[in-house]
Amino acid sequence: MAFSFYGDRDGYLGQCEREGILSTRNQVRIFDTTLRDGEQSPGCGMTSNEKLRMAHELDRLGVDVIEAGFPVASEGDFRAVQSVAHEIRRPVIAALARCCREDIEQAWQALEAAAHPRIHLFLATSDIHLHHKLKISRRQCLDQAIEAVRRAVSFCDNIEFSPEDATRTDTDFLCEMLTAVIEAGVTIVNIPDTVGCAVPSDFADLIQTIRRRVPGIEEVTISAHCHNDLGLAVANSLAAVSAGARQVECTINGIGERAGNASLEEIVMTMQVRPDRYPYCTAVVSEYLFPVSQVLAEITGMQAQPNKAIVGRNAFAHEAGIHQDGMIKNPLTYEIMTPQSVGVPSARLILGKHSGHHALALRCEELGVRLDRRDLDLIYRRFLALADKIKIVGDHDILELIGKTADGRLSLDMSEGNPADKSHLSPIPIPPPKRDDGGQGSAPFVVMNERESEQQEDYLWGV
Ligand code: KIV
Ligand code: ZN
Repeated sequence: MAFSFYGDRDGYLGQCEREGILSTRNQVRIFDTTLRDGEQSPGCGMTSNEKLRMAHELDRLGVDVIEAGFPVASEGDFRAVQSVAHEIRRPVIAALARCCREDIEQAWQALEAAAHPRIHLFLATSDIHLHHKLKISRRQCLDQAIEAVRRAVSFCDNIEFSPEDATRTDTDFLCEMLTAVIEAGVTIVNIPDTVGCAVPSDFADLIQTIRRRVPGIEEVTISAHCHNDLGLAVANSLAAVSAGARQVECTINGIGERAGNASLEEIVMTMQVRPDRYPYCTAVVSEYLFPVSQVLAEITGMQAQPNKAIVGRNAFAHEAGIHQDGMIKNPLTYEIMTPQSVGVPSARLILGKHSGHHALALRCEELGVRLDRRDLDLIYRRFLALADKIKIVGDHDILELIGKTADGRLSLDMSEGNPADKSHLSPIPIPPPKRDDGGQGSAPFVVMNERESEQQEDYLWGV
């Protein structure tokens, strides 16, 4: 399939919908754990008011489940879950609990006011955890889980169970455990890759094995919960979805324990940009992804890394001259989704030492100055010398260069309105590609006419 996709409904996604490629799409539920697992990220602790503010944002974003906290962990977390449960009425509100009486009772007390409450139980099942951490046998582990599920079911009919460290758990025992908790009444079984050691093919195999071997699995939802220790959390989550999981657990900006959890925005946008490979939909309103990411960064004081996919400061920034030239001619050349589709105000051309004449000329025009080729060339050389020193050249630097270089010959051209108002500027149209292969399909030997050779020369000069 030839792609020129865009992750919004004007582009490839819309085309897939129109052509019926998405007619068999299944909904994948987004379980956001920013307020619980995400908060466990060093330095990302949130007060109860901050959690409430974030929960409103997540609600607006359209996530299906908000895991608001671990009520037994602290008085503050109890209050946070309670206030989220009280105020946020559309999504399911989940609270985490170990498989013991006190945790379950605290979780339920915190959740009681929720319109759609869920108790999320977890108990480690790998031999490593049973032996070294819990110091119990597999039999004791099974009994503890069954008793906890029965207790939780007596409070609430929406119960999720997570066999912690599932990816390092003996597969027979994992299947035995899942069979037992489904029989005891859970409605969602979550498969955590707690230590982030899985790779996509293994994780998909595990989900398929569970679907094949666990009786009653078709009556419950399978969920994936992946950590990013090998940088594979998103890939593993998507592999799980392809293998039949219909809930993914993830966080805004991918925050979470150690290297973090699967990033919500990357999962959502992969499905949106590549519905040919991932014919699933989520209820997330992608245009809110960037604003919500910004709110989280403001609350936690932790910015997403600049090159973070989708929401990083550089995710839609272009510095290389060749890229900038392409972007000016048509953003399809270097962008697979529009910045607007994820709520980023607009693509940015960063002016630095890799930038070309075209990008500089455009920025000058946006600043209200039209330059002829000779002046632009002069300013460009000084611009490069400056960029070598200061890396990123800002608008005030450009205006200063123009002022110095033009020596009074250039003045701000206000004729088309306020320089800050860029609405009159349109990208330079890209000429249609021309083939001269006589219809044979062989490698073309192109004889350029005068206009084409000017364009070619302009391209080389511009980048
Ligand atoms: O990573 C993990 O195993 C967890 C469980 C509590 C689901 O966060
Ligand atoms: Zn986790």
